[in-house]
Amino acid sequence: MPDETTTVPMPVFPEVEMNIVTPKAPVTGTVVKSEVCLKGGRKSASFVRHVEIDISGTPLEGKCRAGQSFGIVAPGEDDRGKPHKVRLYSLASPTWGEDGEGKVVSTTPKRVIDEYTPQKEGDDPERHDLFLGVCSNYICDLRVGDEVQVTGPSGKRFLLPVDHNKHDYIFMATGTGIAPFRSMCKELFEHPDGPTTSQVHVVMGVPYTTDLLYDEFFVALAEKHDNFHYHTAVSRERQEDGSRGLYVGQLVEQKFEEVFGPILSSDRGLMYMCGLVGMQFGIYQLFAEKGITGAYMTLKDDIKDVPCSEWDRELMRRYIKPTHRLMVEVY
Ligand code: A2P
Repeated sequence: MPDETTTVPMPVFPEVEMNIVTPKAPVTGTVVKSEVCLKGGRKSASFVRHVEIDISGTPLEGKCRAGQSFGIVAPGEDDRGKPHKVRLYSLASPTWGEDGEGKVVSTTPKRVIDEYTPQKEGDDPERHDLFLGVCSNYICDLRVGDEVQVTGPSGKRFLLPVDHNKHDYIFMATGTGIAPFRSMCKELFEHPDGPTTSQVHVVMGVPYTTDLLYDEFFVALAEKHDNFHYHTAVSRERQEDGSRGLYVGQLVEQKFEEVFGPILSSDRGLMYMCGLVGMQFGIYQLFAEKGITGAYMTLKDDIKDVPCSEWDRELMRRYIKPTHRLMVEVY
């Protein structure tokens, strides 16, 4: 059974400001850039953009830290006649913004395209016309020069530690979950004090190679810095050796002994996950199998005596709490 306690020191995170601008009184930003950030040659019906918003002169200027989110309020009303609620988007920009001065933030909206399905009692069971997600489509539609209502920042748990060089990093993402890792990698490697000396691994999971996001940025980073490593887990394409596609968790497992294990077993290892809710479960089981549980997660009594091979999602969801060395942001 895995170890249950840890003597590994936990990282120290910075104090951050939150909710400087609330949804009750959003401020106005202006779109200054919008471009497709998929690798391209599209195979799946995925539309993802990189959108930059100028927040200069608002109380948000200089206040949005790498790893935090900001809010966007779409204009108009929902189907009950109420103003749309604020939606949160991960920052893809570093603390100093896209402009170097904290005046321009960015994010990575993905269009939501689906068919209507009945959600609650009273909904028309026959309705199946096209459904377009409200806020992400709105943001993807915005043009340079358009104004947009913004709030934030939010989040105090998904941050880089104060002392960047004291840790090594494994960033796991699926799809647009890559946004905060673009932000953090910029923070780590483009810092005014010079690039980090830490080992940094990005593990990016997508259905097809053409769905990779910010691929050029990560490829260039890997070419420039020996301590940056970019791994892609493509789920719906065969691998070079003819084996089937794989998920991010499987990639970490495959390269555990050689690449990830030594980092995770050391005092320096930190893991961050952002993306689909399912991605955390394989990792919890892997950590338990490898006996590195204590540093990364606390097991409550109800799960302690169950062999990890028998853990199901519900059990893990209820009885595992990540420590401050495992940052999980899933949806
Ligand atoms: P798949 O859809 O082939 O099952 P996107 O957000 O662009 O749709 O990409 C999400 C990626 O994460 C896809 O490659 C998807 O695979 C994959 N995925 C789905 N479920 C999991 C999971 N439990 N753990 C890790 N990756 C997952």
